[in-house]
Amino acid sequence: MTASPICTPHHIAIVMDGNGRWAQKRFMPRLAGHKKGVDALRRCVALCGERGVRVLTVFAFSSENWSRPEDEVSGLMGLMASALAKEVASLKANGVRLQCVGNRSQLSEKVQAGLQEAEAQTAGNDRLVLNVCFNYGGRWDIAQAAEQLRLQQQPITEESLAQAMSLAHVADPDLLIRTGGEKRISNFLLWQAAYSELYFSNALWPDFDAKELDAAILDYQQRQRRFGKTGEQIVQATPKPNSTAKH
Ligand code: IPE
Ligand code: IPE
Ligand code: MG
Repeated sequence: MTASPICTPHHIAIVMDGNGRWAQKRFMPRLAGHKKGVDALRRCVALCGERGVRVLTVFAFSSENWSRPEDEVSGLMGLMASALAKEVASLKANGVRLQCVGNRSQLSEKVQAGLQEAEAQTAGNDRLVLNVCFNYGGRWDIAQAAEQLRLQQQPITEESLAQAMSLAHVADPDLLIRTGGEKRISNFLLWQAAYSELYFSNALWPDFDAKELDAAILDYQQRQRRFGKTGEQIVQATPKPNSTAKH
């Protein structure tokens, strides 16, 4: 049953999982899977732009991923620095505004400089906001927001916390996709995903293509988002297709 008008999600968030398994299936090192993951992200950014999605937030490295073997962590850091340098020109040309979200203070100077440069180069763009969550954790985000308010001696309310959160520059995600078959959040947008529609794909992230993205969007379009109301209230408030209401 669908009661909401067919609309493209304004904000899609993705846990890009499955790079390691993609590589291991091919007897390749895990880092080869992460490299393919960068290609999949480039493709996904283009597809989202074409479909009219305005915000794409991706989970690229979690606060917990530091616990991986040292060579994988350093490989991922190197890949981030090189991907930023390589991609910034096309992001700029394609109207994508890149924002890095996460605890930067623990990143190397090289990665920090790359992030700053990519953000500065793309700051004037507004076709698609691409939030790259890197050294990010949902718990870290809530704690850093509370700490900011404490330092400013501000009262802690839902509104003030939301404003201090690292994704305060965008609306909450409408659709949260996780690839790779696991059905968990893994400390991604704990606060912001309160009312996101969840979609789990068995595709490994390097294989996530237009068909997979469109299947997720189609599934989203068939959901009824109730935000605590009854289904009947939502149906009554939904304008009919031939309604004279202004667009
Ligand atoms: C996601 O892929 C990318 C990162 C966490 C950096 P994984 O590396 O977790 O891939 P799997 O889950 O081991 O296949
Ligand atoms: C989540 O994937 C983090 C990213 C995709 C960056 P993980 O592979 O780290 O998640 P778990 O460990 O399976 O929960
Ligand atoms: Mg994983």
